[in-house]
Amino acid sequence: MLVSRHVTKVRDQMATLVELIELSHKAKEKAYSPYSNFRVGCALITKDGKIFTGCNVENVSFGLSICAERTTLVKAVSEGYQQFDKMVIASDLKNQVISPCGACRQFMVEFGDYDVYLTKPDKTYEKMSSYELLPKTVIPTHFLNEEKINV
Ligand code: THU
Repeated sequence: MLVSRHVTKVRDQMATLVELIELSHKAKEKAYSPYSNFRVGCALITKDGKIFTGCNVENVSFGLSICAERTTLVKAVSEGYQQFDKMVIASDLKNQVISPCGACRQFMVEFGDYDVYLTKPDKTYEKMSSYELLPKTVIPTHFLNEEKINV
């Protein structure tokens, strides 16, 4: 009984991952990337199962461009969600998985440690976590909870 419940849970998680991978690649279709011609899509699922997607949105003032990961996180947080379970990132790179930029990695760890799947168009992926992608960086608890001394 216990084993079959576990099998069902694992199967559900796999189905969710497959859906998120599909959605991240679908999200690429909305990319606004006339300057780089590099489309990126992202899908994010919250701890309570709500899914958000996003894409990169570039600007003629190049530095204003925003990556797919940050678009997606901003969509989720602005809708009231801050607890995440999985993020999936997609690009058109044929032979290598997409790898998030430093700014996005910092933006990702702001909301804790969660699974991050870096994918290819053939839907294969590498699984990492937000903390693995940016080890030893500054995180909110350093500001909020850690003891400080003023010498
Ligand atoms: N980009 C993302 O959206 N996410 C990544 O993980 C890597 C890079 C975007 C930024 C820019 O619009 C384009 O891809 C080229 O760097």
